[in-house]
Amino acid sequence: MSSIPFLSRGDTSIDDEESTQLSKREYDYQEKSQAGEYKYFTWTRAYIVLLNLCIVVLIIGISKAGDSDGISSLNNRRSWSPVQDFVEYEINEEHSTDHSKHTKYSGFPTPEQNAAWSALMKPIFFNASFDELRRAGESLENLAAVKGGGYAATIGVYHELHCLRQLRFYLFHKTYYPNMTQAQELYLHGHLDHCIETLRLTIMCHGNTAIYSFAWEESKLTKPATQSNSRSVCAKWNSIENWARSRSPIRKAKSDT
Ligand SMILES: *[C@@H]1O[C@H](CO)[C@@H](O)[C@H](O)[C@H]1NC(C)=O
Ligand SMILES: *[C@@H]1O[C@H](CO)[C@@H](O)[C@H](O)[C@H]1NC(C)=O
Repeated sequence: MSSIPFLSRGDTSIDDEESTQLSKREYDYQEKSQAGEYKYFTWTRAYIVLLNLCIVVLIIGISKAGDSDGISSLNNRRSWSPVQDFVEYEINEEHSTDHSKHTKYSGFPTPEQNAAWSALMKPIFFNASFDELRRAGESLENLAAVKGGGYAATIGVYHELHCLRQLRFYLFHKTYYPNMTQAQELYLHGHLDHCIETLRLTIMCHGNTAIYSFAWEESKLTKPATQSNSRSVCAKWNSIENWARSRSPIRKAKSDT
């Protein structure tokens, strides 16, 4: 082994453990290639076999990864929904990190803000057909029918918005429930606890991975403020709302009369 000059360090350290193996292989190879063409050919074949093995392992690995947690294969297993083919997506970089800025949905209750929330929630229910509910995998016993035909249904995003709105009503209970009795308060607590649980499940399900960081804005603050420039892939709200409006049983019932 000492005949290989570029790997001739001592054999005490971890580095040398590697060097020893490297030099041994190099040494064997040289010996075999000197021994004749047949042995050289065997080495090439061994190399090709190893390469093929690597490719097979790689292919198995890739197909397994797709089966276990690849989003595309999981998407095939999620429940069908009549809205899914209508949803469009876009990049959204809107963040609510500035506490002094209000949108039409936030801030202290005003008539404009109440109107915005009412308009947002208006298409909450849609008129589902029996076939749609069966295709979605719903339980079909004791379904709530809609007057004029069809069955009452809603989609997840509206259930969650409903929960947010109820929490908002409670946050401003002096405005929305000025004369709340103890019994009403007890009922609301139960409902809102369920709402928080609904939102927890959805938030954890969607696992938002956007980065937020913290920065000192003013020297008088005792903790840094949240900031984010992250871009997310979001549903275009219009695409969902237009579908929901088109399926509203109220609208159809009105146009019928
Ligand atoms: C709440 O009670 C006050 C006084 O008892 C009454 O004037 C007011 O109309 C009540 N508000 C509602 C929303 O019931
Ligand atoms: C609901 O949809 C069905 C068709 O699936 C229709 O026959 C019925 O009139 C609709 N009902 C309402 C209240 O819009």
